[in-house]
Amino acid sequence: MRVLLTGASSFTGLWIAKALAAVGAEVTAVCRGRPEGYDAARLARIEAVAEVAAVVFDRPFGGPGFLQLVQGALPFDVLCLHHAEVGDFRRPDFDPIDAARADTNGLDAVLSCLARRGLVRVLHTGTVFEAGEGDGDRPLAAIGRYGLAKTLTSTLIRHAAAEIGVPAIKVTIPSPFGPGQGGGFVDYLLRAWCTGATPVLDHPDRLRDFVPVDLLAEHYARLAMGLGDPPASGRSNPSGHVETVAEFAERLARAMRPRLRLPCPIEARQPPKPSAEPRRRFNTEPLPGLFDRRLDEARFDRLAHMARGLVAGERSALVTQTQAA
Ligand SMILES: NC(=O)c1ccc[n+]([C@@H]2O[C@H](COP(=O)([O-])OP(=O)(O)OC[C@H]3O[C@@H](n4cnc5c(N)ncnc54)[C@H](OP(=O)(O)O)[C@@H]3O)[C@@H](O)[C@H]2O)c1
Repeated sequence: MRVLLTGASSFTGLWIAKALAAVGAEVTAVCRGRPEGYDAARLARIEAVAEVAAVVFDRPFGGPGFLQLVQGALPFDVLCLHHAEVGDFRRPDFDPIDAARADTNGLDAVLSCLARRGLVRVLHTGTVFEAGEGDGDRPLAAIGRYGLAKTLTSTLIRHAAAEIGVPAIKVTIPSPFGPGQGGGFVDYLLRAWCTGATPVLDHPDRLRDFVPVDLLAEHYARLAMGLGDPPASGRSNPSGHVETVAEFAERLARAMRPRLRLPCPIEARQPPKPSAEPRRRFNTEPLPGLFDRRLDEARFDRLAHMARGLVAGERSALVTQTQAA
């Protein structure tokens, strides 16, 4: 099956590309920019994607180059829309309308061209920060402007797919973790421990959903390839460890202490002012393999390997991360 994947330069995108290839997909991964425009972490991820996929640069979603690609010699069977305007998603000037517009630019033209040429299904990636997603504190409002943008984008994608009669499956992602993240909470903890600092948790009581990225990507790839039953609702909410930020940090510290031979301390403090973010938000469908001890051990071994790379030097750590992926 030929799969067209957007957002492949992201942490989860790399894992999804690899998981798709592992189940036999012939993957074309689209990048928005040119190689010279990417930072080292993103470029290292793209290089790792290139080991399993054909990488095409300079194709913003829905632009002329993208349309040219979908009109190319060979048609695609599956479209995986994993891209999104993210960046610093908590920035106060994040514009949800602009973001949704950029995420869905040219969507109708892309879908109708692919549908004419035999598209079997569309997968699109959501976030548990969207309105009505997952479970937790009620009402399940969109979390932040990014959550609002993603709610709009998902609605537009589902509407467009329904209009042309192509089945759409939404895979909603909570908080993924694993080798190759290059930023984010786990990276922050590992970097702090490896440099002798004590990481500080600003919101230790928040209940979130920490999903191992390898399991998440495998689940995504199986849905994309039509392996197993598709969700009747057209939506999938894969879940990992549903626990507080403090509990997850301690889970990671327990795993890292013997591996790194470091004390891996954690300091929790209550936030100075109340936050608008709900305390509890999580997905609802625990992934098979979540409590597989062997997988767990291998995952933490890779994370420790990556953490050692972090102290050895930035570039080598990034390469280590992607190789470990
Ligand atoms: N990581 C998480 O914790 C998390 C949680 C829930 C959901 N998600 C979802 O996972 C996906 C990846 O997000 P991320 O958080 O990992 O952010 P990220 O690293 O900023 O990745 C965003 C990706 O989208 C691509 N992109 C953005 N705008 C595009 C456009 N107009 N045309 C083509 N490509 C475009 C970027 O491509 P270039 O690099 O080529 O510019 C990049 O690959 C998003 O759909 C996000 O909503 C992530």
